[in-house]
Amino acid sequence: MLEVLNHPLISHKLTQMRDKNTGTKDFRENLDEIAELMAYEVCRDLPITKVDIETPVSPCIGYQLSKEIVIVPILRAGVGLLDGIRRLVPTAKVGFIGLFRDEETLEPHEYFAKFPKDLDQAIVMVVDPMLATGGSAVAAIDMIKRRGAKQIKLVCLVGVPEGVKAVQEAHPDVDIYLAALDDHLNEHGYIVPGLGDAGDRIFGTK
Ligand code: PRP
Ligand code: URA
Repeated sequence: MLEVLNHPLISHKLTQMRDKNTGTKDFRENLDEIAELMAYEVCRDLPITKVDIETPVSPCIGYQLSKEIVIVPILRAGVGLLDGIRRLVPTAKVGFIGLFRDEETLEPHEYFAKFPKDLDQAIVMVVDPMLATGGSAVAAIDMIKRRGAKQIKLVCLVGVPEGVKAVQEAHPDVDIYLAALDDHLNEHGYIVPGLGDAGDRIFGTK
């Protein structure tokens, strides 16, 4: 399943992020706000169970989330989505995957992994602003599946058909959410039109 979350607020904020004249502070703030808006949609189908409670007036049947949520940002750039999602799901646990893309081969290289327990029982959201070749997302999903994760959502800001295809072929069971589906990858593996190097723009490197 691929869902592109068309929403005027997301489009407005993403356009500010795409603009090459937008500085680090505004880039980061817009990403954070989009993450929160995306989380609302991504969480729409979370499972809930009935609970009996008492309001000050009467007994009442209420609902609570029935599964643990684990957010897994892909370092570095995925960290830019973390706080916005956590504002909506403050009880979520957080794991981290460190991957960098070799600039020549575009292959992902793992340098860090740390996860909460019981991934097999949780709904795991892998988050990263960019879905380019899809190599990083496929590798990250491989890693969490090896640790038992079964219900996985991939949440990215901007993707291209090449990256979506790579994930769908390697992991057809994973739902993919994007704020925008862009046109293509250029010869350096950058998304066109995209927004440039997300990690560099979030952290002010380069
Ligand atoms: C970027 C981005 C993704 C990856 C996408 O990270 O944040 O993780 O590239 O490209 P792919 O789909 O072709 O794998 P990068 O490797 O530049 O590391 P960074 O987040 O540390 O900047
Ligand atoms: N990684 C980025 O940060 N930007 C792209 O356009 C592609 C991969």
